[in-house]
Amino acid sequence: MGASVRIVIARHSCNGYVRRDALALSSRATLRAPRLIVPSENNSNVAPSARRLFDDSSLISTVQRYRPYICPFAELIEQVPTGSEVLDIGCGAGLYLGLLAAQGRIRGGIGFDASLPAIAAAKTMSEKVAPIRLDFRHLGVDQEWPGGTFDVVSLVDVMHHVPIPVRRDVTRLAAERVRPGGLFIYKDMVRRPLWRAVANRAHDLVVARQWISYEPVEAVEAQCRAIGLELVHRQDINMLWYGHELRVFRRPA
Ligand SMILES: C[S@@+](CC[C@H](N)C(=O)[O-])C[C@H]1O[C@@H](n2cnc3c(N)ncnc32)[C@H](O)[C@@H]1O
Repeated sequence: MGASVRIVIARHSCNGYVRRDALALSSRATLRAPRLIVPSENNSNVAPSARRLFDDSSLISTVQRYRPYICPFAELIEQVPTGSEVLDIGCGAGLYLGLLAAQGRIRGGIGFDASLPAIAAAKTMSEKVAPIRLDFRHLGVDQEWPGGTFDVVSLVDVMHHVPIPVRRDVTRLAAERVRPGGLFIYKDMVRRPLWRAVANRAHDLVVARQWISYEPVEAVEAQCRAIGLELVHRQDINMLWYGHELRVFRRPA
């Protein structure tokens, strides 16, 4: 139990991200620690960047411009080491990769998603971050994934859309794509408190027209541990009525 895990306490605000106080604890202590959930703070440069990347009047672009107000992209970006090559599973319109590229944080990335309109929007967006090369592919998680391994593999707000029998495979395949020393960045929505889970369910019913089901984050943690990844960062973040669980796992070098 020598590995250290950072718990980060997110502080106030409805539209952004976090000032963080990171505590280094032993993983044993961390896993026993009470869950810390506090609203998060300002997100000053992510939303403008999203507006620049998605500047047309389509519905998909409009959603991308507003997404930084409900999803903690500042925290997600911060987890990615500079110069990384990233695989983003269920990338949607490519907002995460686009933001990372716009900040010069990555040297390239591949995103794939089951939604053809989202991938079309991602391809259009990718021209704005040249010369950083972002490659977007129309693929479901049940199809053949892009080959190779990556410094960072991310799965952001996708698991609750994935059919339950496929979820363990998704985690396993994601983990397999992580290079030694690389990271698996997992974020999904909270199951507790119930009112936040219900609020997000209502959101997905309207936006995705899907009655979603939550994957317990503890199950993802346990599977990653069994696969040999170590939990290096855990963070719970509230934005408006949305509750987020961010976990970062590292494949030992
Ligand atoms: C809430 S969106 C998140 C998009 C993106 N990760 C982000 O954070 O902006 C969920 C995405 O998961 C994708 N998705 C759902 N089921 C999928 C599947 N079986 N295979 C691939 N993508 C899937 C949807 O098409 C959608 O783009």
